[in-house]
Parts: sequence; C-alpha cells; structure tokens
Amino acid sequence: MKQAAAAAIVGSLLALSSQPPDVTRALPFALASSPAATSIVLASTSVAHEVPVSTAALTEVVEEYCVRCHNQRRLRGDLSLEGFDVEEAATRAMVAERMIRKLRAGMMPPPGAARPEADTLVALAETLEQIIDGAAGATPRPGNRPFQRVNRA
Ligand code: HEC
Repeated sequence: MKQAAAAAIVGSLLALSSQPPDVTRALPFALASSPAATSIVLASTSVAHEVPVSTAALTEVVEEYCVRCHNQRRLRGDLSLEGFDVEEAATRAMVAERMIRKLRAGMMPPPGAARPEADTLVALAETLEQIIDGAAGATPRPGNRPFQRVNRA
C-alpha cells in the first residue's frame, strides 16, 4: 500500500512540476499526513492524464478531430459528422456503427491527420457502443431503419 502511494507521489511530483510554484512548495507539507497526500495524488493524477469521458467532451473530440474532413462541404467518405452529438448517437446508429468500426480499426483519423491520445479514441468508441447497445436493448431496432428515433422513457 505504502509502495503504491510512493509511486503515485512520484507521479504527482512530475505532474506538479508544471503547476504554479506555490503548489509545489505546499507539497512536502501535504505529504506529512498520508490521507491528505493520497487525495492530492489522486487529484493530480487525473489532471496529468485526462481522458474525456463525458458525452459532451467526446462530442467536442468529434468536432475537433473528425468534422474537419467530415463536414457538409468536404464530405470525406460520403459522411458529415457536423452536429453529431455523442449523447444522441442512438438517433444516428448506422453512422455511429461506422464510426466505431473505423475507430476500433485505428483508421480514423487517417494517418497524418491530427489525432487525440489513443485512449481518447477508445473512450469514444466504447461510449458510442454503450449508447447504441443500450438503446437497442431498450427498443429493438426492427429491420434496417438507420435514422429511427429512439425515445427514452
Ligand atoms: C484528414 C481527413 C479525415 C479526418 C480528420 C477524419 N476522416 Fe474519416 N474519412 C476520411 C476519408 C478520406 C474517408 C474515406 C476513405 C475511407 O473510408 O478510409 C473517411 C471515411 C470515414 C468513415 C466511413 C467509413 C465507411 O463506413 O464507409 C467513417 C465512419 C469515418 N471516416 C469516421 C471518422 C471519425 C470518427 C473521425 C474522427 C475521429 C474521422 N473519420 C476523421 C477522412 C478523414
């Protein structure tokens, strides 16, 4: 337990090195009491390694990394993701499924294009899967009606 905390503290020192100096100076004091140190470690670890997980943050990821090619004007791959809302992915389940396939295969964004951290893309694929799987479970999609709206009770 102590070892794990020590390893995490090292990580937090690295994370804190980019913080304002007063935070760094406060650290030795915080380390004197281990529960406090633990909470600081947890807080700074999540700052150091930020994976967007909220649907709103993932929608921004799509806007930033996908819409530059997938918009009404450029229509790369015959696909516009303008206005694509991760939260509402079930309303565009066919598109979401195509996105998941490309993301899982590591093919989007294409080589050479700006891309977020790999785990951000995994988070996007997993969240899309959960949303459309959840919607499919609640309301079975009959046949192949791509833009069927799924009402949530
Ligand atoms: C630099 C331009 C560019 C960016 C950025 C980009 N794409 Fe693409 N995308 C393409 C092109 C070109 C194609 C068509 C060729 C292909 O399918 O590989 C395509 C095809 C696709 C397809 C269609 C595949 C199919 O089923 O036919 C999907 C889905 C897709 N992209 C998703 C994404 C997602 C999600 C992102 C952001 C994470 C993204 N793309 C970012 C250029 C881009």
